[in-house]
Amino acid sequence: MANITVIGGGYVGLVVAVGFAHHGHSVVVGERDSIRVERFRAGDPVIHEPRLPELLAEAIGDGSISFTTDNRAAVDGADAVFLALPTPAMADGTVNVSAIYAVLSEIYDLLNAPAVVVTKSTVPVGENARIASFLAEHGSTAAVVSNPEFLQEGSAVDHFLAPDRIVVGSSHPAANEFIMSLYEEMPGERVTLADTTTPEIIKYASNAFLATKIAFINEIARLCDATGGDVLQVAAAMGMDDRIGGKFLNSGPGYGGSCLPKDTAALSRIGELTGVPQTVVTAVIASNLDQISYVTQYLEQQLGDLAGSTIAVLGVAFKAGTGDSRDSPAVPIIRTLMTKGATVHAYDPLAKLPSDLEDAQVDTWRDAAQSSDAVILITGWPEFGSIDFSELSTLMRGNLVYDTRNVLDGQRVENAGLRYLGMGRSAGA
Ligand code: UGA
Repeated sequence: MANITVIGGGYVGLVVAVGFAHHGHSVVVGERDSIRVERFRAGDPVIHEPRLPELLAEAIGDGSISFTTDNRAAVDGADAVFLALPTPAMADGTVNVSAIYAVLSEIYDLLNAPAVVVTKSTVPVGENARIASFLAEHGSTAAVVSNPEFLQEGSAVDHFLAPDRIVVGSSHPAANEFIMSLYEEMPGERVTLADTTTPEIIKYASNAFLATKIAFINEIARLCDATGGDVLQVAAAMGMDDRIGGKFLNSGPGYGGSCLPKDTAALSRIGELTGVPQTVVTAVIASNLDQISYVTQYLEQQLGDLAGSTIAVLGVAFKAGTGDSRDSPAVPIIRTLMTKGATVHAYDPLAKLPSDLEDAQVDTWRDAAQSSDAVILITGWPEFGSIDFSELSTLMRGNLVYDTRNVLDGQRVENAGLRYLGMGRSAGA
């Protein structure tokens, strides 16, 4: 069993840390936010993620995990140091990697072979090579391994413990082998590469491809709205072709979250910088912005002038199963509704709106629906499917229910005397 350090106790870092602890490794998490560290120590994972509280409690209980704000103390004696630091995108898609170098500057003298530095954060193409050069220039002898993470929010622990694939790459075969061995107990395909660049591209290409599927089906949904087709039937029949596959063909209000928007923007920018334009992903980004705008345009078209209207928004999270509203399409949609003069009441079982919109947030779907002219469902929380639509109908002032995720039973909504509109489903409920 290895001594593993994870620097960064964010979404990826904490899941990776408890996952390795679960498999018997001794894990130290270096997290500079002392409040977070206190909460972790008390067994509170800070984020909402199924199984995370249980695994954190288990690891604390058997002493396999510890937390510190002191990164030097965290890496001292580590066999592998995983960097799980934020790499946010700037407005033009450029990825800000300063957090990585700030940490490396703090700890480089403690990073020496056979210890291995592992990059978990999504970093621009070529960044692992730059990290390796930075360390070598500072006298560190540790190998750098690129090991991108593919977990999905809402089922992050399960994805980490049972991934589809584990990708590891570096020019040091022994370091690759060691890092791969840490995943011994996890199922999934193994991909070992002799460079750090290919894993970086695999990560961007995977997220960009997922975004492309979503943007594609969303454009088809718009076409269905305009022509009378039904996007659910189109996606289902498309998915019957194994070469296409039915997953990630659910139309919605546009993709969001902390990964797809950031990584598509980054890939587009990397294409510009390298002189190899990534025209597909660049178009996908524009198409996704169109989809987010389309939601309010379509509502306006159906409802007439939005000025003076009251709109109930169901769902703030970027997808169901998470309390995360980072880059959620709900946020720009609510802002646009407000700009057009609507009063918005938004409800989400877990996620919170950003502070400047917090007055719009209410505690129950009933509070949101009260006196509303229309209900617009943005996040596909299963609990919205069990809303009593007759009660909804009595609470509302108007009768329009716009289900941008196609998760409600349109017939049940209509049976309650309401008007149901799905995304790309003008052909019927
Ligand atoms: C995404 C990838 O799916 C993971 O493989 C990757 O590891 C992760 O980013 C990352 O880079 O860390 P995540 O951000 O958790 O995972 O979210 P997704 O499940 O991919 O959903 C992204 C957005 O697309 C959400 O807004 C979701 O509602 C939307 N979506 C997804 C659709 O509109 N339709 C679909 O069919 C699927």
